Amino acid sequence: MITTLPKTSRQASTALIPSSRHLLDVDSLSSDQIQDLVDTAREFRDLRASTRYKSDILRGTSIYTLFFENSTRTRVSFEHAGKALGADVINISAATSSVNKGESLLNTALTLDSMGVDALVIRHAHSGASHFVSRHVNATVINAGDGAHAHPTQALLDVMTLEAEIGNIRGAKLAMIGDILYSRVARSDIIAFRKMGVEISIAAPPTLLPNGWTAGTNSLNVPDSEVTVHESVEDAVSDADAIMCLRLQLERQTAGLLPDVNEYSRVWGINNQRLALAKPDAPVMHPGPMNEGLEISTEVAHGGRSLVTTQVQNGVAMRMAVLEHFCAAIG
Ligand code: NCD
Repeated sequence: MITTLPKTSRQASTALIPSSRHLLDVDSLSSDQIQDLVDTAREFRDLRASTRYKSDILRGTSIYTLFFENSTRTRVSFEHAGKALGADVINISAATSSVNKGESLLNTALTLDSMGVDALVIRHAHSGASHFVSRHVNATVINAGDGAHAHPTQALLDVMTLEAEIGNIRGAKLAMIGDILYSRVARSDIIAFRKMGVEISIAAPPTLLPNGWTAGTNSLNVPDSEVTVHESVEDAVSDADAIMCLRLQLERQTAGLLPDVNEYSRVWGINNQRLALAKPDAPVMHPGPMNEGLEISTEVAHGGRSLVTTQVQNGVAMRMAVLEHFCAAIG
């Protein structure tokens, strides 16, 4: 039986539309703009929870997702978000496109731009890929992850998730554990959470920290940045209000930066013993995909304090907010 779904319409938010038509990183967003996107995403989350939400806010808008790297949650959530807002969404995987015949990133983007696409959502293994494309196309470009550089929508959904879980995040302490060097999530999360007044405590093997980030330092070399590198996970998670566990990005590592993954898990993995050092009820986040049993134990990954599935749910709502804001100018 086919059921006709109720069509819920929501007035597009007109407040604090970001000044750029592209979302390439979080550096360009002010804390007010981040908060506005978080608030909008929360509205979408609630609408989706209470109704089978479908709107026509982006009717007539075409969105192409162009992924040069594997993805499950980011690509699907952009597609889901675009469709929930009434846009036409077309997914292009580099593996099945003419990229496989040697077509360059630029020529691929120009081809899609000529078809009249309104927004291009791009994931690429090279840092700067989305910035590069944005300089050559008429479409709005949304960075869905570029190399080890940035993953703005992940950072926004992480801010949303933490705020929904613990309330006011200003002054909260977030322990960030794992592969900082290769993680675009780490880079974007640090910037977004700092803009929102969160203190960040980092612990990582020295070989997986950017140059100059050593234990005991204020890693961003910015006075009062309140990003501190610790020698051990125990120190970093002690009294933390929340923990962000990062995936070991084995696909980006070229040198033998780790003696052994079992050793990594023993020294840097988040397990129940380490979680017990954080504040009572402190939640654990992970952007996914998880190397379960490596950077995060199974009991933590699927335990009562894990926000991993909440992050995925919020990811759809946040991408709806991002598409609404950044496609708003498209007429
Ligand atoms: C992240 C990514 O691809 O950067 N995953 C994601 O988008 N949820 C993190 C990762 O791959 O470790």
